Amino acid sequence: MSNRREHFSSRFAVVAAVAGSAVGLGNIWKFPYVLGNNGGSAFILIYILCIIVLGAPLMISEFVVGRRGQKNSYRSFKTLSPTFRWTLFGIVPSIAAFIILAYYTTIAGWTLEYLYQSIINGYSNLSAMEVQKKFELFSNSVFSPILWQLVFFLITAYIVYAGVKKGIEKYSKIMMPLMVLLMIIMAIKSLTLAGASKGLDYLFKPDFSKITAQVILEAMGQAFFSLSVGMGILITYASYMSRKSKIHTTVGAVILADTVLAILAGIMIFPAVFSFDIAPNSGPGLVFVTLPNIFNQMNGGYIFAIIFFLLLSVAALTSTISILEVTVSLVQEELKWTRSKATIITTIAIAILGILCTLSMSMGEEYHIFGMTFFDMMDFMTSNWLLPLAGVFAVIFVGYVMRPEDVKDELSNGGTLRIDSWFRVYLFAVRYVAPIAVILILANQVGIFNFLR
Ligand code: TRP
Repeated sequence: MSNRREHFSSRFAVVAAVAGSAVGLGNIWKFPYVLGNNGGSAFILIYILCIIVLGAPLMISEFVVGRRGQKNSYRSFKTLSPTFRWTLFGIVPSIAAFIILAYYTTIAGWTLEYLYQSIINGYSNLSAMEVQKKFELFSNSVFSPILWQLVFFLITAYIVYAGVKKGIEKYSKIMMPLMVLLMIIMAIKSLTLAGASKGLDYLFKPDFSKITAQVILEAMGQAFFSLSVGMGILITYASYMSRKSKIHTTVGAVILADTVLAILAGIMIFPAVFSFDIAPNSGPGLVFVTLPNIFNQMNGGYIFAIIFFLLLSVAALTSTISILEVTVSLVQEELKWTRSKATIITTIAIAILGILCTLSMSMGEEYHIFGMTFFDMMDFMTSNWLLPLAGVFAVIFVGYVMRPEDVKDELSNGGTLRIDSWFRVYLFAVRYVAPIAVILILANQVGIFNFLR
């Protein structure tokens, strides 16, 4: 093996890879239902605030660590600071990756079932009620959700093992813009439905009385999840980034794309939710009980549905690949396993946990931990706790362990870019705003003190 690290070929390739990881079920499946569970409009405001105040500095910090360290997520920290023991940095993100992939594939499996149903035209001519019934019947059944989940695992593992990342990236470049186009068409359709304006009010008329500590925690968790922050993915990808690419514009482009897509998903879903009388707080099934109704009302809905669920599966796939890649590359490098052994064993282990997540929607529905199903518990634990914690580590590392000159050197590509205008703001955010905000929100959540009810 040579010591020279492979690098992305162009600036666009970096943006495409990071955006491929960031844009996924988090935007189209999770954002609308978390928003619905947290009362609507006010959540969007807090979410955007979290993206700007926490998400952006955090992403930039992971990029700084990765590109300067030039190693995997764990070793990059070690390279930059050999004297400190950074084991925890290596462990928390890997646990998070492990758990996220387990429950993410439950939903990814659903997208395959919906793709299949679109092909056999299984949802046409059904009323909104029947669409909901059919969804419940499917998600509460034992075998087919697990089957689809395992299919999804197989595809992900095959791609990670074969390393055909280039192929996937090539496809994402075409599929992502196509996805946006399709979503715009569906959003327009949704907006023309009877009673659509209620959906817009729900999204964009802020109701400040809805803001609670729980809403802030969920918004923060969603921001971290959607931007793929806190799992070492960005560190790993940044280590493949050339010295000539600009970190801040790359991060800016990804954040913009990710946020626009999430809000577009909201505009696509909520007018239809109110028009078809679906409960906005329907939970993880929200998108799935809403979309077939929109397709049923559209000219060419049959074709649109097939393309849409195909694209959604691919969007999920570019994310699952990035998540599995983190764990596999870590296991492979640190335990000195072969790539195939690392891929097979990691995938089997995650699949076992994944099956439990899926079962918690059917057989295991009555088993609750802290009042949540196993699935919700896994999501809550990672999005709201592990990702913010791991994210804060990176910020503290850049803010306090690295020398500011080095951080500036990395961000300005060795002094060739003028970044004076914002560097101080960034440093301030990284040293004070981001860590204090995350710690306050988490502390409030545990009930150490109460600044919000
Ligand atoms: N961001 C992806 C989405 O929105 C999911 C994802 C991929 C992720 N990689 C991640 C979430 C890393 C957290 C951390 O669907």
